[in-house]
This record gives sequence, C-alpha cells and structure tokens, in this order.
Amino acid sequence: MVKFTSENALKNNKNDIPQAAKENLPHLHTVILVGFMGAGKSSVGRVLATQLGWRFVDLDQRIERLEGKSVAEIFRSCGEEKFRRMELDALQTLLSKLHDDRCVIALGGGAFVQDPIAALIKATGIPTVFLDAEVEELLARCQEESRRQGSKRPLLETPDNFRKLYETRRPGYLKASFRKETGGKAVKEIADELIEALGLDKGLARTGEN
Ligand code: S3P
Repeated sequence: MVKFTSENALKNNKNDIPQAAKENLPHLHTVILVGFMGAGKSSVGRVLATQLGWRFVDLDQRIERLEGKSVAEIFRSCGEEKFRRMELDALQTLLSKLHDDRCVIALGGGAFVQDPIAALIKATGIPTVFLDAEVEELLARCQEESRRQGSKRPLLETPDNFRKLYETRRPGYLKASFRKETGGKAVKEIADELIEALGLDKGLARTGEN
C-alpha cells in the first residue's frame, strides 16, 4: 500500500492547491478524487490518468462489475446501506492491492463522507483532492447528463434534495487534502491544472483502466 508521509502537504483544504504543494509531494503515485455528484471525478480522473500514464480506477464502475448490476439497480435491490458497505469493501480491496502502482482513483459522491472510508484513506496517507463547484453548476451538469443518458442518479431526486445533500456533505469534502475549484472549467483544463499544482510528470502511455 502506498504510504504518503509529507503531512504539511496535506493541510491546505480550504483553497486551491498552493504552489508549495508540489515540493511536498515528491513520491506521489496515487491520487484519490472526491466530491459531490457532477464534480467531474470520473471524467477528470480518466483524463488525468491518461495524461500521467497512470492506471485509472472508478470505484462505482468497479462495484458495478463486481455485482453485475448498475449502481442504480444496487440502490433499488439492496438499498443505500448495503451499497455503502460495498464501497468500503471495494476500496479496501483496491488499496490493499495497490503496492507501488501509479493510480488515479475516482470515488462515488457519497463515499468520502462515510467515516469508515475517510478513516481508511487517512490511514494510507494517500492525498485526496476535492473537486468543487457551485451547487447550481453541479446540479446543471447532473441534469444534463441525465438528459443525455436517459438515466438518473439514485440520489438526484429533486433539485432541493440535491442542494440540501450538498450542504450537508460539504464539510466532509473539505476534509480532503486539497480542494480544486472546477467551476466553468473544461475537464482537460482541470486535469492539466492538477498535474501542474501537484508537480506531476506527464507520462508516455496509459497503463490501463480499472
Ligand atoms: C452517490 C454518487 C454516485 C454513486 C451513487 C451515490 C452519492 O456517484 O456513487 O449514486 O451518494 O452521492 P457520482 O458522484 O459519480 O455520481
């Protein structure tokens, strides 16, 4: 499992990643992206991993593969509590097998605000990046995606519920090592900014997905 020891680099959770972060992250080979629905964790994670030549793991997709059903079906047939257990188990297994792999991991929107998951990540020392945006932009992104895909996220019930859930969870996301503002930015722009801010090198080839 990757051990990340530079505590100072992990303190800045209120603002964008400071310039100094890159000097404090010399041996970084795993990054975990967290944040609310619509934050761009999967799309930014995929581009980030491709640019770096690292592996990309989307935790929701991993669960879907393991269970043989979509997250929406899991919510319907097993309920949210069971899904949270699956998230913890899947992440635990993934992290225990990482060793020195270079890897970008995208969590589902509710994962990092579950205490056992936050504690598990903290114990590994792997830095987390909170992809943040105004709640109205997150809502618009999710609604647009629902329209495009013809499917709806299980917890995207009404705009009001979405807003309330965001407010409830935001303090949890702010416990991430870093916060990255994504409002009005394109996926590639965010990935490029993360590479620059974290002092990472663009790799030559992608090493695979999930
Ligand atoms: C959830 C977010 C979803 C997915 C599940 C629950 C949440 O992931 O894990 O529907 O609790 O916010 P995305 O953030 O990728 O939509």
